[in-house]
Amino acid sequence: MYLTPDVVAQRGRVLDLLAPQMGERVLDVGVGPGLLAVDLSRLVGETGNVLGLDLSPAMVAAASARLAAFPQSEVRLGDATRLEVADAAFDAAVSTQVYEYVADMPRALSQLHRALRPGGRALILDTDWRSLVWHALDQGRMDKVLACWDAHLADPHLPAKLGPMLRKAGFEIRRVEIIAMFSPRWQPVSYAAGIIRSIRNFAQANGKRFGLTSDDLEGWWAEQEELIAADEFFFSVNRYAFLATR
Ligand SMILES: C[S@@+](CC[C@H](N)C(=O)[O-])C[C@H]1O[C@@H](n2cnc3c(N)ncnc32)[C@H](O)[C@@H]1O
Repeated sequence: MYLTPDVVAQRGRVLDLLAPQMGERVLDVGVGPGLLAVDLSRLVGETGNVLGLDLSPAMVAAASARLAAFPQSEVRLGDATRLEVADAAFDAAVSTQVYEYVADMPRALSQLHRALRPGGRALILDTDWRSLVWHALDQGRMDKVLACWDAHLADPHLPAKLGPMLRKAGFEIRRVEIIAMFSPRWQPVSYAAGIIRSIRNFAQANGKRFGLTSDDLEGWWAEQEELIAADEFFFSVNRYAFLATR
């Protein structure tokens, strides 16, 4: 999914908005596989540096391998709610698709604010799953699957609340943009194609708690396969990018 055109375009827009400069120090909170951190490392050059943090040892290993060619950059285990970095250590910070997993957002944002120098920029991007338009014939069954999927995040509707949260943490919001993950018809290599499989796997493992039977899940998936075969697939969900300064 990280290499699909939707997500590649998202990374491009995130970089445009954050506008990292040569020599800057940039923090990537929840660095994941490190694709954005590689782009950031190129843009800040050898006189700058990038620090990537992630809760997951597997992600730290993947991002470290990707960043091996950039001696100015580093990846460490770290938690968004307990940033082990000095005060005002960074010119810019980025966190994409991470805070939606974080339960204590006031604490995470106050940590981010502390880590930035005065005037430093933060770029935060998360999905609001209420913006999802995913065509189904049996909408009631789709709603049950999506209620289950909401449980994979601490807050599936974070973007709608993020503006006031950022202001409360002391940030000034400079710009907010929608970045759509948009498949108006079936595209085998797309964010939609990847995420619907993740939703299916999650619902298979957790569906019982939400009253989903295996008949519901089989019927729901078969319906999507039929819509794909009939060229009637449609999927659209919005991510929201907030550019703010300390
Ligand atoms: C969907 S991935 C996004 C990765 C990357 N930021 C990107 O956009 O490509 C979410 C990442 O956030 C990490 N994560 C979740 N909660 C975290 C926390 N409290 N502190 C640091 N990382 C966290 C996960 O381990 C995972 O690598």
